[in-house]
Amino acid sequence: MPLAFKLFLLTWLWPIALLNGSNFPDSKKQTEVPLNNHRKQGSRPEFRMKKSDSTKSTLIKSEQLLRIEEHDFAMRPGFGSSAIPVGIDVQVESIDSISEVNMDFTMTLYLRHYWKDERLSFPSTSNKSRTFDGRLVKKIWVPDVFFVHSKRSFIHDTTMENIMLRVYPDGNILYSVRITVTALCSMDFSRFPLDKQNCSLELESYAYNEKDLMLYWKNGNDSLGTEEILLSQFFIEQFNPFNGLAFYSSTGWYNRLYINFILRRHIFFFMLQTYFPTMLMVMLSWVSFWIDRRAVPARVSLGITTVLTMTTIITGVSASMPQVSYVKAVDIYLWTSFLFVFLSVIEYAAVNYLTTIEEMKKLKSKKIPVTYDTTQAMAFDGCFHDNDIDLTAFSSIPMNPEGRPPPRRNTAVNLPSEGHRLRRTRSLKRSVEYIINNSHIIDSYSRILFPFAYVLFNIIYWSLYS
Ligand SMILES: *[C@@H]1O[C@H](CO)[C@@H](O)[C@H](O)[C@H]1NC(C)=O
Ligand SMILES: *[C@@H]1O[C@H](CO)[C@@H](O)[C@H](O)[C@H]1NC(C)=O
Ligand SMILES: *[C@@H]1O[C@H](CO)[C@@H](O)[C@H](O)[C@H]1NC(C)=O
Repeated sequence: MPLAFKLFLLTWLWPIALLNGSNFPDSKKQTEVPLNNHRKQGSRPEFRMKKSDSTKSTLIKSEQLLRIEEHDFAMRPGFGSSAIPVGIDVQVESIDSISEVNMDFTMTLYLRHYWKDERLSFPSTSNKSRTFDGRLVKKIWVPDVFFVHSKRSFIHDTTMENIMLRVYPDGNILYSVRITVTALCSMDFSRFPLDKQNCSLELESYAYNEKDLMLYWKNGNDSLGTEEILLSQFFIEQFNPFNGLAFYSSTGWYNRLYINFILRRHIFFFMLQTYFPTMLMVMLSWVSFWIDRRAVPARVSLGITTVLTMTTIITGVSASMPQVSYVKAVDIYLWTSFLFVFLSVIEYAAVNYLTTIEEMKKLKSKKIPVTYDTTQAMAFDGCFHDNDIDLTAFSSIPMNPEGRPPPRRNTAVNLPSEGHRLRRTRSLKRSVEYIINNSHIIDSYSRILFPFAYVLFNIIYWSLYS
């Protein structure tokens, strides 16, 4: 019986004992915490007063330190009176891309704002600032700077929003954000790819005009810091801040800050990719003037190949460019070169036509009856015939009694041409002389005129654009 009674007591008293036990540490904590606070925050009398009669909250809250609850931060500092000065300084971290097709650039920067808000001042003996992150920014007033002409922009948020807020005891505030912004840069491509681009990023307050907010560069010309920025296609020639005013007819004048930079393009890539192959193609088209005028397939295919290659180069260049409605420097070069290549094809058409007429005349004056066979041999099939040359230069082929050249047969043609070739290799000088003497007058002039005109064009072009 006594055992059963003991068990009964135990089952009933155990939870009560537990409850009491759990109460003890709690009450201990409550007595301890204000003591801690008392020691730490001894310098803030009004704060200690609050804590000592508070039973719920025992930690320092930023709202209480900066007395955020006591003010309406929807209103700017000095609301209703003179404009609040907001100093800006910028550290450019990188220029991520510059796009010709979209006419914009992307830049990552640290944007720092400096201003004074008396409402956030707090008593301090050490005059040390307090630093906060993005979580506090939503509760206080911060300047509403935006980027004019921006297409996209964001504050980086890995791992937390890249925001820093530093409050000094006297109410001075430093607010820093890390932003990536893509902004418009109206580019002028009339000198592309030998161009310079003048781009600027523009900052302005969205809500407050110059009567409410005065935006200025914090350190004058030194407000813009840059790290070593290397771009694949550009040199950065200048990087400087300046300021101005912007007027909107319905809302008034606004302070605007400009981050201005001038980019000069590296020419080497375009030399290698566009100019050099184009030059070679034009030179290749001149080879045609040195080939015998009767070698129609050789000269026509050379002409067509160079024309097609030029077309490919022009297409490749224009694919990576915005479709502007004016002439770019690269277009002038490419189209002039194209014209040279094209003219060399036309030149051959003229030479070939005149040759045909010439030889027809020759045939008529010699009173040789024109048969299908001879005309084909002379001009119309246009192929290079060794026996043609033999006829004109050496005239060593025996004529028939009727005065007609022997009918063309492979077996008959082979022997004299073989001998002719041998003689050619023996005296190169004579054969060169022969080519020069035997070529058409237009070809002879083209050999000098085309290179001369192209060199002249290059001299004018490069002195004009560089
Ligand atoms: C506190 O520090 C700020 C800047 O750090 C300085 O401008 C100010 O004069 C200092 N105030 C006192 C009382 O030392
Ligand atoms: C660049 O543009 C700005 C404003 O558009 C202008 O003030 C500045 O003089 C220009 N710089 C050059 C070198 O053209
Ligand atoms: C800043 O630079 C501009 C031009 O680059 C110059 O006119 C101006 O005097 C400079 N200002 C200061 C404070 O150095």
